[in-house]
Amino acid sequence: MPSFIKAINSQVGRKIMTGITGIGLMLFLIGHIVGNLTIFGAPEAFNIYTKTLEDLGPLLYVIEAGLAFFFLYHTILGVSIWWNRRKARPEGYKKYQTKGGPSHQSLASKSMVYTGIIILVFLVIHIWTFKFGDTEMVKLASGEMARDLRALVIEKFTDPLYAFGYTFVLSLLILHLSHGFWSAFTSLSMKSKEASKKVQMGAYGFAIVIMLAFIFIPLYIYFTGGSCDAALISCN
Ligand code: HEM
Repeated sequence: MPSFIKAINSQVGRKIMTGITGIGLMLFLIGHIVGNLTIFGAPEAFNIYTKTLEDLGPLLYVIEAGLAFFFLYHTILGVSIWWNRRKARPEGYKKYQTKGGPSHQSLASKSMVYTGIIILVFLVIHIWTFKFGDTEMVKLASGEMARDLRALVIEKFTDPLYAFGYTFVLSLLILHLSHGFWSAFTSLSMKSKEASKKVQMGAYGFAIVIMLAFIFIPLYIYFTGGSCDAALISCN
């Protein structure tokens, strides 16, 4: 086996690759939340954003294939690291001690594999609902036709099942991202306790801010009934 493949297949290599793919996915999430928040902008803004993505044509397929690869590779690596650890330490985490410094075992770290699997199931439902969901076509001011995804988002989030289901899964994402972000940076660089503490604080802050922005969307739409009179939602 070539030594590069051997290196990325080792336990340390897999951890590093999980970090790299995880950081790629976080960059996607930053782009996605910026785009999603246009739902509170001018009435056409959200549909222009999704139409711009769809108009990328073949480039969009390349981006989607890359994203799907990152999601799947990240999941396979995460599950395999968890499985190897479990095999090596069948008694669980209670007796776990790291060689240097205190262990970072927390609710977030222990639940990574479970929160990760829930997020994957969520993604299948999410893409089915929005990417392949039934929408009307609307005429934009430019005269072009676009899918009315804005109306679909508002329709779904006025349903309590979607609004609170999303809120629950997005809250789990806070746990997953906060530990994942810290772990990615720690395995990619930090060794000093001081730097690690700062990265951990930054990781929690980043995960909380980005996920609160995601959670705000379903809850705001649900509690205002998605009405055009609501302060942030304008229609026409
Ligand atoms: C309030 C929360 C969210 C809203 C309103 C939302 C909205 C949308 C919409 C409307 C689409 C379809 C875009 C199109 O077809 O042009 C979409 C696609 C997608 N969303 Fe979300 N999203 C949310 C949260 C998330 C989260 C938390 C993740 C990841 C964990 C995510 C991952 C994706 C992915 C992977 C796609 C498919 C992208 C593509 O294939 O082009 N979304 N989302």
